Amino acid sequence: MAEHALAVVNLGKLFGGLAAVDGVSLNVATGERRVLIGPNGAGKTTLFHCVTGTLKPSSGQVSLFGRDVTRLAEHRRTALGMGRTFQITNVFPDLTLGENLALAIVGTDRRKWVVHRPAETFEEVRRQALEGLARVGLEGRAQLPAKLVSYGERRQLELALALNTGPKVLFLDEPCAGLSPAERQRISQMIADLPRSMTLLMIEHDMDVALGLADRVTVLHRGRVILEGTPQEVRANPQVRDVYFGHA
Ligand SMILES: Nc1ncnc2c1ncn2[C@@H]1O[C@H](COP(=O)(O)OP(=O)(O)O)[C@@H](O)[C@H]1O
Ligand SMILES: [Mg+2]
Repeated sequence: MAEHALAVVNLGKLFGGLAAVDGVSLNVATGERRVLIGPNGAGKTTLFHCVTGTLKPSSGQVSLFGRDVTRLAEHRRTALGMGRTFQITNVFPDLTLGENLALAIVGTDRRKWVVHRPAETFEEVRRQALEGLARVGLEGRAQLPAKLVSYGERRQLELALALNTGPKVLFLDEPCAGLSPAERQRISQMIADLPRSMTLLMIEHDMDVALGLADRVTVLHRGRVILEGTPQEVRANPQVRDVYFGHA
């Protein structure tokens, strides 16, 4: 059997009496772009948290490239290639965009424990930080403190921070939320331009963005998968129309 980048088996998450995620199974192929849609409260973010290790699932298993990671801490999953966008609180507002990314680079560098770092290493970090910013279209903003850039540019910085961990499987939770139409267009183009070898799981509210990017779509409703299919199949499905557009 071909190895999946991600396999989720019968995953459940209870919050008190509420089954926020209720027996979800998903197989995502290597290099696939999977978009998760569903009305507010469907359990999309909770599912992401359980898969990436932010939350402990109440039941079920998560495997990454055939390896069971269900009980691994989040940082161990990151080391195995799971990447995700960080919340804005992980950005230091008084540091420049370049410094923010440089800090993240040093933080993921195994050499960080070396106290006497040779000067050329700093040059290398600076170069990598600029490269990382260029990747998300922020090369001209490296010298600006994070607190002075627009909300859309902060979201771009978050994407740069996520890409910095060298993810094989990248999780994006509504990367376009709160953005202007122009910024939305820019970010979704950046996501479309990511290497095809990178497996992508994305939660997206905007149907056009979602169906434009996805190889396959999973529709979640009340913690359960109600449909999985191609964008065309999802668009044509009457139940999805009811559930999704009915609540949107
Ligand atoms: N930490 C939490 N504690 C209790 N209930 C939660 C928590 N997080 C989410 N929920 C509930 O779980 C359900 C799913 O939420 P969520 O995963 O955020 O949905 P979505 O991302 O699809 O909008 C909602 O009913 C929400 O209120
Ligand atoms: Mg959510």
